[in-house]
Amino acid sequence: MNRWLLVGLAGLVAMLVGGVSLADEPPKKRAKPKYEYRDKHDPNGIGKFYMDREIARVMSYQGASWLERKERVEEEAPAKLIKALEIKEGMVIADVGAGSGYHCFLMSPLVGKKGKIIASDIQQEMLDLIIKKAKEKKVTNIETVKGTEKDPKLPVGKVDLILMVDVYHEFEFPFEMTEKLVEALAPGGRLVFVEFRLEDDKVPILLVHKMSERQVLKEMMPFPEMEHTKTVGTLPWQHVIIFTKKQEKKEPKK
Ligand SMILES: C[S@@+](CC[C@H](N)C(=O)[O-])C[C@H]1O[C@@H](n2cnc3c(N)ncnc32)[C@H](O)[C@@H]1O
Repeated sequence: MNRWLLVGLAGLVAMLVGGVSLADEPPKKRAKPKYEYRDKHDPNGIGKFYMDREIARVMSYQGASWLERKERVEEEAPAKLIKALEIKEGMVIADVGAGSGYHCFLMSPLVGKKGKIIASDIQQEMLDLIIKKAKEKKVTNIETVKGTEKDPKLPVGKVDLILMVDVYHEFEFPFEMTEKLVEALAPGGRLVFVEFRLEDDKVPILLVHKMSERQVLKEMMPFPEMEHTKTVGTLPWQHVIIFTKKQEKKEPKK
């Protein structure tokens, strides 16, 4: 049977048993799309494919200075990105694949003392750069967490916003990571993909490090509890694709 049909049937059963609307309920058992391995592949990829997309090699901490380059302001317009995120004081934000913490330090003053930024990465060397910078700048609301390839190690149901800038396409296990990210979000929380636009030939980034909006939407299909609420297309090279976790709506009792 078609796996999407199976996902739908699981949701329907959940609705009948639990008395909640289908749209709000994650499938009890999610159908996991298969990973494929191909010998012929892009040298910048790992030869592992997910839904027909090759997964990119992880950017090493040795290249961290590229993340702090001056030209980034012109190429990525980070201030526009931060504005589009509609950050409010007191929010709990996870910067997953935080790297050297470029966005953590832009978001930290906006959430203030009542909020916090959780910087998660799989490379301790990247987290060490964040710890060092936070000490120098006397920033106390950034917490670092060492994740694994399958788990960003975030608190369940507590995060208001998860930001992934130039990261998702590097996940070796995108399905498993997304399951954990969705689980970490509070109801109404947002999952934000910032990816270099594959649709635009003029964006000068290696092919496997770019993603189309269509591909992101396809890879979110196993997660019906997440709704695609907005795509911001105003950044020079990237698109900002935003999903919101649906609120639980109990059916009124008759
Ligand atoms: C290209 S860098 C982007 C860093 C940062 N987001 C920025 O824009 O400056 C990608 C980062 O994602 C991290 N990464 C890759 N796979 C990851 C995973 N499964 N969980 C957490 N971080 C991951 C890498 O270690 C690296 O620091």
